[in-house]
Amino acid sequence: WQLLYSLRKDRVPMAFHWVPWLGNAVAYGKDPYGFFNECRDKYGDVFSFVLVGKVMTVYLGPRGQEFVLNAKANDVSAEDAYQHLTTPVFGEGVIYDCPNHRLMEQKKFVKIALTSDAFRSYVPKFREEVLDYFTTSENYKMKENNSGVVDVLKAQPELTIFTSSRTLFGDEMRKKFDHSFAQLYADLDKGFAPINFALPHLPLPSHRKRDEAQRKISRTYMSLINHRRESGDIVQNRDLVDSLMLNSTYKDGVKMTDQQIANLMIGILMGGQHSSSSTSSWYLLHLAEHPEIQEELYKELTTLLNEKNGDIFDLTYDDMQKLTLHNHVIRETLRLHMPLHSIFRKVSKPLLVPNTKYVVPKGHHVLTSPGYAMIDDKIYPNADKFNPHRWDKPIVPENSQTESVDYGFGAISKGVSSPYLPFGGGRHRCIGEQFAFLQLGMILATHVYNIKWKFVEGQKMPDPHGPAKIQWEKRQTCVL
Ligand code: HEM
Repeated sequence: WQLLYSLRKDRVPMAFHWVPWLGNAVAYGKDPYGFFNECRDKYGDVFSFVLVGKVMTVYLGPRGQEFVLNAKANDVSAEDAYQHLTTPVFGEGVIYDCPNHRLMEQKKFVKIALTSDAFRSYVPKFREEVLDYFTTSENYKMKENNSGVVDVLKAQPELTIFTSSRTLFGDEMRKKFDHSFAQLYADLDKGFAPINFALPHLPLPSHRKRDEAQRKISRTYMSLINHRRESGDIVQNRDLVDSLMLNSTYKDGVKMTDQQIANLMIGILMGGQHSSSSTSSWYLLHLAEHPEIQEELYKELTTLLNEKNGDIFDLTYDDMQKLTLHNHVIRETLRLHMPLHSIFRKVSKPLLVPNTKYVVPKGHHVLTSPGYAMIDDKIYPNADKFNPHRWDKPIVPENSQTESVDYGFGAISKGVSSPYLPFGGGRHRCIGEQFAFLQLGMILATHVYNIKWKFVEGQKMPDPHGPAKIQWEKRQTCVL
């Protein structure tokens, strides 16, 4: 089959594999960037590989990002690529379980709840949740203990879900997020395991748990929506739930049903859950290795607070924008550990790869990897080193044709060929960037103000599956 394929001159070069259907799944699954490196050395920026029966055409680098992220909606489809994975998790009628134009409008409905006014009200809630977690979580119990050990891979997912649900879904809903509700989310999250991408129809035992969790969570959200409708307790600008209840009529007059609103709530919470919790886990681990940067962060924070004669309790949304090094730490962490290593689309009509003789046939997938570009030494000197100070000077690529915007903490290039694209680009670009920066910034500042931390004896930078234990110790300024 490989021989026949390679005889066609209009086909992208195919990475060699021994087992026909499985293809390169093991190499790609174990170390995607290592696999891309090997293929790039052999075939260049454009190559195909087989992933459990699917043919993936990879296009690396800025042109590849342009090719995949800016492809026309008629030519490629995200819903065809992701739907089998996401619909059982989010539920029907939202995100990829609807035509693309509906998703575009759903993103607008959500954005209405993510304005700077809303963010101003989220900041104190984020902080309160982190301090509450420091007080109640077995990992900290900070009122009783001056020091302790915590596995960040266990703590950060909890902290992420508590902070997101409190701000996006309101106080009432947050109260329901006890341990057993968090467990439902963990069961639901298993729906995103790679095996489900590869073999969506395999009747795995985890599917029953996933479906049960989906039903229970969606019922809980429906009861919140029903309660607010019945009591008339709907307030503009309070949280995402109210916002969706007030603004979710499509341009053609069709209204989202309450069930779809509940499903969209699941989708939005899940959209940020893994990405934000993996980012805060990684920055805590990098900072455990760099106590000197923790001290710089502490200085940045206390200097700002001294200037305004305040303490951690008065940090505002505007203050958060001034914490340059805090923002650089988040930025650098996302560069080194982009939560999505691959972005796919399914090809809907034969697609010419620009400036080549290759055509990607209908039914194949195209894949690009902004995360791979972000660890390229040619763009980021010593790319594998965690160095938030690399962002002190704006990083603008040579010959960049992209528009660069300086937000005060290093240049951001808006175009999809930018070498810094942790939030994707084009029509499917993330809408949660500012929310994530604020949430991650507040989680970081609250850690820095209250504790110092280092690796436990024998713990080094872990592989992504942990364990990832840090030893913390209260600072003098600790408020608990
Ligand atoms: C899309 C990354 C947080 C909601 C995306 C995409 C990326 C991304 C790379 C593009 C996916 C694609 O093109 O296929 C991240 C990172 C985050 C983060 C790195 C945090 C560090 C969030 C949060 C929310 C969110 C907090 C919700 C509040 C979404 C939504 C989409 C999206 C709705 C659009 C999906 C589409 O149009 O297909 N995100 N995200 N994300 N993200 Fe995020």
